[in-house]
Amino acid sequence: MSIGIDKIGFATAKYQLKMADLAAARDTDPNKYSVGLMLDSLSIAPITEDIVTLGAAAADQILTKEDKATIDMVIVATESSIDQSKAAAIFIHGLLGIQPFARSLEMKEACYSATAALNYAKLHVTAKPHSKVLVIASDIAKYGLRTSGEPTQGAGAVAMLVTSQPRILALNDDNMAQTRDVMDFWRPNYSNTPFVQGMFSTKQYLDCLKTTWAEYQQRYDTNLKDFAAFCFHIPYPKLASKGLNKLLDKSLPDAKREQIQQNFEASIHYSRQIGNIYTGSLYLSFLSLLENAKTLKAGDKIGFFSYGSGAVSEIFSGQLVAGFENRLEKNRQAQLEQRQTLSVADYEKIFFEEAQLDDQGNAEFDGYDTHSFTLDRIDQHQRLYKRN
Ligand code: HMG
Repeated sequence: MSIGIDKIGFATAKYQLKMADLAAARDTDPNKYSVGLMLDSLSIAPITEDIVTLGAAAADQILTKEDKATIDMVIVATESSIDQSKAAAIFIHGLLGIQPFARSLEMKEACYSATAALNYAKLHVTAKPHSKVLVIASDIAKYGLRTSGEPTQGAGAVAMLVTSQPRILALNDDNMAQTRDVMDFWRPNYSNTPFVQGMFSTKQYLDCLKTTWAEYQQRYDTNLKDFAAFCFHIPYPKLASKGLNKLLDKSLPDAKREQIQQNFEASIHYSRQIGNIYTGSLYLSFLSLLENAKTLKAGDKIGFFSYGSGAVSEIFSGQLVAGFENRLEKNRQAQLEQRQTLSVADYEKIFFEEAQLDDQGNAEFDGYDTHSFTLDRIDQHQRLYKRN
């Protein structure tokens, strides 16, 4: 029995910041962002768009009535949680109208946890082949004004429906994980933005890739020749590109090198315009590959490198299923181009706006443009959402 991704959806914020504008405001050479980080724009979420609204919007695009009646588990992977106790998955379960006899929970390990969620979903469907599991990776990456990470912020959610007999990707049984206790990026409960040892974090990312890949190759007796494409966690595309160079060893035939390089370009196409979306970043790279690559075909083996600071990394693979191209969105690029461009002054105001609660814990918000769901208001400390 094959198990994997049957459907995939995506939502990002309706506002963007152009890197050229940020470069001008920060007195930085624009090439540092466009060439040095390989970023052109970032998605900017207003206060009324959060991991619940983005996650619900991503899932809403792909789910039918029948899916909602069958899904028996909803997992939200995130590191920008809106509540320390209640799982975002419960809000999303309610907003989408999923049948009540389902398990809903949230998972955390920096940018890594959607990979654990996918694996848990796979194990669940293995035990109960008629089940469907909704896995959502939803985050808002916010580093703060004038920080080293500022040009790598972003916002977005990827939703994946995991089933038996999937119609996009059949997951293989070849997961290879690694854990190492490092402080490269972390966010204590008292801080809205992370603490980052930027250069150290890039070294950890690349070293985790190198060592996990070496172990993966040895345990599964494989090498890059067996793959058509490799998707990476993308904190910014330049780092993923350096990661790819670590995998491209000299023995690789030219044609294979060319294929993997071309597919890599397709896999970073959306991230270049959206920025880091933490847990969803690897899966956005997969979506970008599917929707922008020219030569992918059924049976092609796709590799995945997941990385979450702290740190946990994992490499695994899947095989494209016949007809996968019919399951994709045709006008994603047009949607990205429709985002409203913010001035740097408006970005500074909108992205970092905080709820102004009164004595009873109530707050109202300006009417920002959001996807299919909005954080309507806070009523006695309860976040109330509505469908647009
Ligand atoms: P920086 O100040 O942009 O670093 O910070 P830089 O001065 O090294 O410049 C970056 C690149 O731009 C360099 O290229 C420069 O040469 C180039 P490289 O040497 O790397 O090839 N450059 C230029 N290129 C063309 N024209 C120019 C020019 N000037 C410079 N004029 C840093 C980089 C990563 C530290 C920063 O962006 C940061 O702090 N980011 C946040 C942390 C991060 O993304 N880490 C990545 C690994 S950790 C991870 O992936 C996990 C994460 O997603 C979180 C989670 O797991 O939850 C972050």
